[in-house]
Amino acid sequence: MYRSHTCGELSAKNIGNEVTLAGWVQKSRDKGFMNWVDLRDRYGITQLVFDESRTEKTVFEKAKTLGREFVIQIKGTVIERESKNPNMATGEIEILVTELNILNAAITPPFTIEDETDGGEDIRMKYRYLDIRRNPVKNSLLFRHQVAMEVRKYLSEQGFCEVETPYLIKSTPEGARDFVVPSRMNPGQFYALPQSPQTFKQLLMVGGMDKYFQIVKCFRDEDLRADRQPEFTQIDCEMAFVEQEDILNVFEGLTRHLLKELKGIEVDKFPRMTYEHAMKTYGNDKPDIRFGMEFGELNAVAQHKDFGVFNSAELVVGIAASGCGEMTRKEIDALIDWVKRPQIGASGMVYVKCNEDGSYKSSVDKFYDQDDLKKWAEATGAKSGDMIFVLSGGADKTRTQLSALRMELATRLGLRKPHEFAPLWVVDFPLLEKDEESNRWHAMHHPFTSPKPEDMKLLETDPGKVRANAYDMVLNGNEIGGGSIRIHDKETQQLMFRYLGFSEEEAKNQFGFLMDAFQFGAPPHGGLAFGLDRLVAILGGQETIRDFIAFPKNNSGRDVMIDAPSVIDNAQLDELHIRLNLQ
Ligand code: AMO
Repeated sequence: MYRSHTCGELSAKNIGNEVTLAGWVQKSRDKGFMNWVDLRDRYGITQLVFDESRTEKTVFEKAKTLGREFVIQIKGTVIERESKNPNMATGEIEILVTELNILNAAITPPFTIEDETDGGEDIRMKYRYLDIRRNPVKNSLLFRHQVAMEVRKYLSEQGFCEVETPYLIKSTPEGARDFVVPSRMNPGQFYALPQSPQTFKQLLMVGGMDKYFQIVKCFRDEDLRADRQPEFTQIDCEMAFVEQEDILNVFEGLTRHLLKELKGIEVDKFPRMTYEHAMKTYGNDKPDIRFGMEFGELNAVAQHKDFGVFNSAELVVGIAASGCGEMTRKEIDALIDWVKRPQIGASGMVYVKCNEDGSYKSSVDKFYDQDDLKKWAEATGAKSGDMIFVLSGGADKTRTQLSALRMELATRLGLRKPHEFAPLWVVDFPLLEKDEESNRWHAMHHPFTSPKPEDMKLLETDPGKVRANAYDMVLNGNEIGGGSIRIHDKETQQLMFRYLGFSEEEAKNQFGFLMDAFQFGAPPHGGLAFGLDRLVAILGGQETIRDFIAFPKNNSGRDVMIDAPSVIDNAQLDELHIRLNLQ
């Protein structure tokens, strides 16, 4: 038996017990005649004591050879500590060691295995297994497990069945590039790794499975960000014989359950917001509604004066930054420089200080009088002591810029509180969006999404106006899930592919299997998928999903620990019938 207890469970009630523990040496403090060693495992830390006067000489001497991260096993007696540590679960006791067994020596780790480590991101990724020994990473993985368990529990209780779908498939378009896998047995042919199990879950509905879910890996070759990994995990769900309302209710229920069980937070019914409203009010389809700062459109009150910049703009729009009226000129200039950075791309920014005495001072006082500025304050909801920031230009671009400023100000003002949760549904997404480069229409969600029946007639005349039965769940300014009611008949699906620029031949080659299935009695169905990594990170009070993935990729899509991707040898290439053409 390697251990009788873990390093996190012994307390005063064990005093006098003979125990066996195993774990890693966190640190040792050698005072010559006394040597204290902190022994760590997944469950905690227990202090060991080697005392010259009470410990057998060979054991006492051996303890002096222990280095950081040695793996050891000890036997000993639980005794009361002289100086207790109330901050530690095991802080009342220590183990007077009688037997010490070095299970494995360790070389010095490249960074300290402590909550606050001296290791930078790169080195921690290279030695991720050491990073996982640290509490913050370990606890994130444990938390992820809890979330996954609660998801499985809740959905199973609701009658959902977890079904595995294949990884070696054919392209499923979710808007990214595919990772492909060459087939040795089929020269010149490739599998694609699923960007999601979308088509399979729809086929499961045709198969009568009715309520499906799967905690499943998805693969997308796209540019990486803090909330994106090339392989990530979805809680993928689908239901048959449902309308949008049914789906929203079931998955709102799941999210409420998670918030309650994991965070102890009870949330009221989730607000719902149309895509159009979200874009107009927050400049964003995933608004963070933990704070206000809603957009105030100022065209009506800021145009037709002598300020040419505003007059020529499609949209003049502002926000009130609460309590920022005292910002110095230098701070304001720095913020103007911030919005002018290429990443944001504003050409300039107008500001209005709302003085405590009810008067206004703006950077465009030459063009606007106090009455004008009062109207701006009304439109943006600004109060005395606030600062109004105004941007102008093309409507879409300006909204995006102001949205970035809103989030930046909220971060600076401490309004994005990590342990406050504000979920919402964004509904009525457009069915299609135009890719400006190719001038082609793309499915905004994916090509299997059903248009709203009442908007179908607009497909011919004004495709950009057609709304979809598509919805996103947003939590604290992050899209944590998205889905739609699907098309379930061959004709509409064919029509959709045609609008998306597929020839009949292409549609048949790529998705013939799905359209065939629709002919064999496909029930009306719909679903959604949560991003598990994002959900876990946000519930954990963070936005970087890497910290909640055991072995993540870096920003170049590399696993620096195992050094992947990497070259393969010529024999393997030959077997796969692949000839490289590297310039
Ligand atoms: P969608 O593409 O919106 O929908 O993906 C669902 C959710 O998955 C998460 N997500 C990601 N998380 C980490 N890294 C990524 N690269 C990444 N990409 C997406 C997001 C997102 O909301 N088949 C549809 C679902 C459906 O219609 O039922 C789909 O995949 O949180």
